[in-house]
This record gives sequence, C-alpha cells and structure tokens, in this order.
Amino acid sequence: MRRAVIAGTGSALPVRRVSNAELAREVDTSDEWIVERTGIRFRHIAGPDETTGTLATDAAKAALAAAGLVATDIDLIVLATATPDQTFPATATKVQAALGIPDCVAFDLQAVCSGFLYAVQVADAMLKTGIHARALVIGAETFSRILDWEDRATCVLFGDGAGAIVLVAQDTADDGGAGILATRLHADGRHNELLYVDGGVSTTGTVGKLRMKGREVFRHAVTNLAAVMTETLALAGLSADAVDWVVPHQANARILDATARKLGLPSEKVIVTVDQHANTSAASVPLALDAGVRDGRVRRGDLLVLEAMGGGFTWGAAIVRY
Ligand code: UT7
Repeated sequence: MRRAVIAGTGSALPVRRVSNAELAREVDTSDEWIVERTGIRFRHIAGPDETTGTLATDAAKAALAAAGLVATDIDLIVLATATPDQTFPATATKVQAALGIPDCVAFDLQAVCSGFLYAVQVADAMLKTGIHARALVIGAETFSRILDWEDRATCVLFGDGAGAIVLVAQDTADDGGAGILATRLHADGRHNELLYVDGGVSTTGTVGKLRMKGREVFRHAVTNLAAVMTETLALAGLSADAVDWVVPHQANARILDATARKLGLPSEKVIVTVDQHANTSAASVPLALDAGVRDGRVRRGDLLVLEAMGGGFTWGAAIVRY
C-alpha cells in the first residue's frame, strides 16, 4: 500500500519573543487574564525582515535536514497561509526560489487555522496517486500584520511562526506501517461573521484586520474538533485508546483540555505549545509536532491525531503513524 510518510519535521520562529507582561505595557490587559483565559505566556512577533516566506523557508530547511534530503529531492510544495508575502505570486514559489529548486509544483492553500490539515490532505492525495514523490507541506503565518493592536480581545491571542514536514511516498505494510492513515476535512461557510478579516483584495482593496467573536468560536471549536477526531479515527479503523499523541491547533489551552476530555484522553497525551507560541494559525500544528519530535516525546511508530479548526469555519483531522 502506497502511503505518505513523514520523513522529517522543522520549524522557525521570529527572533522577537514577547511576554504577556510586555504586551500589557501597550494594551489594556494583564498576564493573569491572558494566562487564565488562554494559557498563553509568550508569542513571537516578526520583525521587518521576517515574513511568512522567510519563516516558511527556514522551517522547510530544518525539515529537509531532519529528513536527510536536499531541496532538489522535492517535487511538490504546498504552503498553507492566510498571510502571504504578496497577493500573488504564491509564497510557496518564493520558498521554492529560496531553496534553489529549479522546477517543482508550488502553490498556496488558504483555510486559515485549518490550513495545515487541508494541505496535508491535498499533499497526501497527490503522493498516493503517484503524481508526486516527495512533498514539503508548510504552515506559515505572520498574523501580527493583521492584528488590530487596539482590540485587546484579539491582539493578545496570536503570534507568528512556521512549521514544515517532508512527506515521502512509500510502499508500507497494511497494518502498523508508517504514514498518513486517514484524513477528514469540513467547512461551513455560514459562520463568516464570527471570525474574519475586514478587508480583502476584491472588496476593500486593503489587507484588513482580524475580527473574532471569541466566545462563539470557542463553543464551535470544542464540538467540531471532538466530532472530527472521532470521525477520522473511525475512518482509520482505530479507537481513541490507540492514540499516543494529540497534536492540536493551539488556540486556547481550555479548548485543548475540553477536546481531550470529550475523547476520554488524558491531558498528558496532548502536545501543548500555546503557552510559548500563542495561536499561529496554520503554523500551529506543524510547530507543535516539531516541538514534540525534537524534545523526544513523539517517537517513530507513535499514533498521532492532528486536528485544527478556524475561520470559515473550516476544520479537520488527520491520523498519522509517525
Ligand atoms: O484559531 C481560531 C480559533 N480561535 C479560537 O479558538 C478562539 C476561541 N475563543 C477563545 O479562546 C476565548 O473565547 C477568548 C480567549 C477569545 C476569550 O475568552 P472568554 O472567556 O470567552 O472571554 P470573553 O470574550 O467573554 O471576555 C470576558 C471579559 C470581557 O469583559 P466583561 O465584558 O466581562 O467585563 C472582556 O472585555 O474579558 C474581557 N477581556 C479582556 N480582559 C483583559 C477580553 N479580552 C481581554 C484582555 N485582557 N486581553
């Protein structure tokens, strides 16, 4: 059976790390409020020379090194982002150029915080059909550029960063073999007004700022994430007991706890980076995965559930034997 196997992971964060206390000097908020309501303690904020493209390139280089591959081995780049360097061309092509790949397929994909899950399903399908052999799948964002720093209900929640995986098509054993075992995606476009950016190329001609009704998003997030995780495990023919690690989208520590509880999974099985990175949208799942791999918690053979939910709404999950 042909499967897409994670050959390596990598990540990159902007140099500047901002604590809640530092933020509270500019914004009417406090370390206590942010920690209690979200679990966030730090976020990284991109400087003028750091962009979605530069962070994505650094994450991709780290993932290639971890996979023991060189850039020219890659024949597909799928980059999930809602904060591209330019309206066009795709930031994926900037990564391609920066990596020195003379020819490959490279495109961006936009599903906001679920973007990485969408990118994984797309790349998985392209590898399994044999169209491509080795893919870079990247989630990269600079949400600091679309935050309204006057809106304390949103600006404290987000950060910048990038994460990447190298997916390699391999023929593996039916049972117990490594690779992406199942993916499931959803979208429900009726919820635009709960989480959106109030500008755009074809409407205002501006970039716009992020707007969110946090409490409503929270409610949908817990329900949808628990449901899609259960659904995707069933697609893979597995139960929650088989899961070694949940690698979730990192929006709020309370969402991570509530979702794990709904599945009957102990919080020790959840990789948490929201305290260090805040919500980095499409970058958060691959950033968390790379953190878990590099600190030795996630080992070869472990069963992982990746999940995310975001604007649209969009949401999804992937079951992966690492
Ligand atoms: O990645 C996409 C998915 N996004 C999410 O999953 C986010 C989901 N939502 C959340 O994580 C939470 O709803 C928030 C963290 C955004 C907010 O937590 P909450 O417990 O729902 O608080 P709230 O919005 O209901 O606000 C409670 C109070 C309000 O004051 P009053 O009206 O009760 O007096 C806010 O004005 O907290 C106040 N508040 C703040 N206070 C200090 C809101 N933001 C802040 C702040 N600092 N930064």
